Amino acid sequence: MSTHTPDIKRLFEPRAVAVIGASLDPNKIGYKIVQNIVTNGYVGKVFPINPKGGEILGLRVYPSVHDIPDEIDVALVVVPAKAVFQTVQECAAHGVKFVPIISSGFSEVGNLEEERKIVAYAREHGMRVLGPNIFGLYSVTPSLNASFGPRDIPKGNVAIVTQSGALGVAMIGKAAAESMGLSAIISVGNKADIDEADLLEYLVPHRETRVILMYIEGVKNGARLVQVLKRASKEKPVIVIKAGRSRRGAIAAASHTGSLAGATEVFDAIMRQCGVLRASSIQEAFNWCKFLAISVLPQGAETVIITNGGGIGVIATDACETYSVELYDDLQILEKIFAPLTPEFGSTKNPIDLTGQATAEHYNRALEAARHSETIHAVLALYCETALFDVASFEPMIEGNFHAFQEAGKPVVFSALGGEKVEQLTEMLRRRGVPIFADVTEAVACLGALYTHYRYRSQPEELSQTLEIDTKAIERVLEAARREHRAFLLAHEAQQLLRIAHIPVPKSAIARTLDEAVRSADEIGYPVVLKVVSRDILHKSDVGGVALDLGNPQEVADAYGAILHNCRAYKPNAVIDGIEVSQQVASGMQIIIGARRDPSFGPILMVGLGGIYVEVMKDVSFRALPIGRQDAIDMLKELKSYPLLLGVRGEEKRDIDMVIDVLLRVGSLLLASEQISDIEINPLIVYEHGRGSVAVDARVLLA
Ligand code: COA
Repeated sequence: MSTHTPDIKRLFEPRAVAVIGASLDPNKIGYKIVQNIVTNGYVGKVFPINPKGGEILGLRVYPSVHDIPDEIDVALVVVPAKAVFQTVQECAAHGVKFVPIISSGFSEVGNLEEERKIVAYAREHGMRVLGPNIFGLYSVTPSLNASFGPRDIPKGNVAIVTQSGALGVAMIGKAAAESMGLSAIISVGNKADIDEADLLEYLVPHRETRVILMYIEGVKNGARLVQVLKRASKEKPVIVIKAGRSRRGAIAAASHTGSLAGATEVFDAIMRQCGVLRASSIQEAFNWCKFLAISVLPQGAETVIITNGGGIGVIATDACETYSVELYDDLQILEKIFAPLTPEFGSTKNPIDLTGQATAEHYNRALEAARHSETIHAVLALYCETALFDVASFEPMIEGNFHAFQEAGKPVVFSALGGEKVEQLTEMLRRRGVPIFADVTEAVACLGALYTHYRYRSQPEELSQTLEIDTKAIERVLEAARREHRAFLLAHEAQQLLRIAHIPVPKSAIARTLDEAVRSADEIGYPVVLKVVSRDILHKSDVGGVALDLGNPQEVADAYGAILHNCRAYKPNAVIDGIEVSQQVASGMQIIIGARRDPSFGPILMVGLGGIYVEVMKDVSFRALPIGRQDAIDMLKELKSYPLLLGVRGEEKRDIDMVIDVLLRVGSLLLASEQISDIEINPLIVYEHGRGSVAVDARVLLA
């Protein structure tokens, strides 16, 4: 077994490439790939392979990999599925580093076994597999077009990683139509071995790549992807288009966390956490790619809108809110800068309204002033067609200002709405790389994407805080459940687990006799709550297994008898381990906190407004674990109900620090034991600031 893993750089920058299944038949994929490699001017050596030998496009054809006199970095496999394994064995014997397998007929049609066999063999022999079921790859650095997609791929700075081959091929065409140059496009297909995270290892430091676009249908090793994406987004913008309806987790029905953590919600939240920009359509993704590949980064948040129409200014203002673009609002400074350039009936409040009589010259002056101002960091320049429009003056005005802003290191985006002439102008400028849109919302969305990336880059790197937890003590609690072949902890065991993690729980004790119950109640202090402890009775209150608000020994004694009676009546042979006596906690705000192992992303954490409304409100937020303190704060701030924690209408602020602490502790608890699959506290009662919180009920499921 070879432990050596080849450097991913050799996949993108191979020194020699073989095409196994190269064909003389121009209608076959094995021909097209050789043709694309040759006509694109690949700088390395090319070795077509076909048992028949001969010549293709002037290249000598070798009967097998063994006959090639050179070392091969990449061997593209274009033979029918049933011949792939043998081909891979031959490649391994020849020391090939990467085998992109174009062939279909594997896990995508249920043939998982063959796919696994191929990958296992390849990995054992120090070789890595791309695909299978892919269209190939294009890489600008060695000028390699090893795909059966279009021949002419525009060179540029956007790298695309796609799970869908057909969509990838279409995106090459679309990129050309949009004049968007590519630095790489690579299809991952079934992702049997190499996945997005592997490819990012190359693309993140790759100099020619300024933006990375990924089309993802499903995530396999999400925990690693999260680590790589967090780093990647610090370097360059990463845009994701995600398709595929929300597939709920394997134990979705078993907990609120499970059912609330639909795949879409979790994916969204985790992409945000990683600074990834999630585009909702291909057009939007392309707009962002093009813009982010050329735009400079802003130096601050203050954006100014310059317009000749009130309406379009209002639409842009709304869109700025949606896409988190901050509008500069120092009215005095705005007036000082723009009053000399704006008619009296215009406006110097942001949006700056130059009014319907504005010509290219008015725009020129306003844009120049914005460019020179140190307090303005970005500009949205909007234009509605009027009778004063003429292409001859607007074209150089827009293009000239774009370049001047680029040189000044200040982002600018244009929008022009109008008839045929305006559309032609927009189209022409777009082809020349100027960020201009007919739809003002698209223009704002581009700036929003830039700012989202800028904010993520600017925020300090957060260290995750995983707290030390006594794993031996956890083991002891889990042991009892394992002995009884339970996949869940009983309430008092779950509580025990929380105590180990120093999460506050109500004072409690298990009583096995009436005397013990009364003694415990005296010790804990009244009022108390009594609850049956039984693995056979899950919904305790439904069967009369719970009594609340017991204020004295007599009430405890009465409740003790009633609970036993009710439970016996419900299930005569239920095993009753005892009656739990616990402190009745005062009411407060109810929060739900959950942690679980997501099938795609591994350990995740959830917080939401708790109590009985959690399923209805769905006001929850997620993060992939581990998290830091700032992540915990951000999770709370993402909740729509966050203002309730701050206190509304004269209410006192809640103990937010304590909630943050519990969040970090619950996350650490899940990470402390692989055996725990799900932890849910519902509710965590949160009191006023300084008064703490208490986990009233906890549910723990085991793997
Ligand atoms: N070594 C070298 N060459 C071999 C070989 C081997 N072990 N086995 C077969 N070949 C040759 C064949 O002789 C043929 O060459 P020829 O034209 O000179 O006879 C060539 O390889 C191709 O084999 P063929 O049997 O003609 O298959 P094909 O070209 O019709 O199809 C695939 C091969 C891989 C393209 C096809 O099986 C497939 O999977 N198609 C789907 C591809 C796809 O859509 N991928 C996903 C894109 S997103």
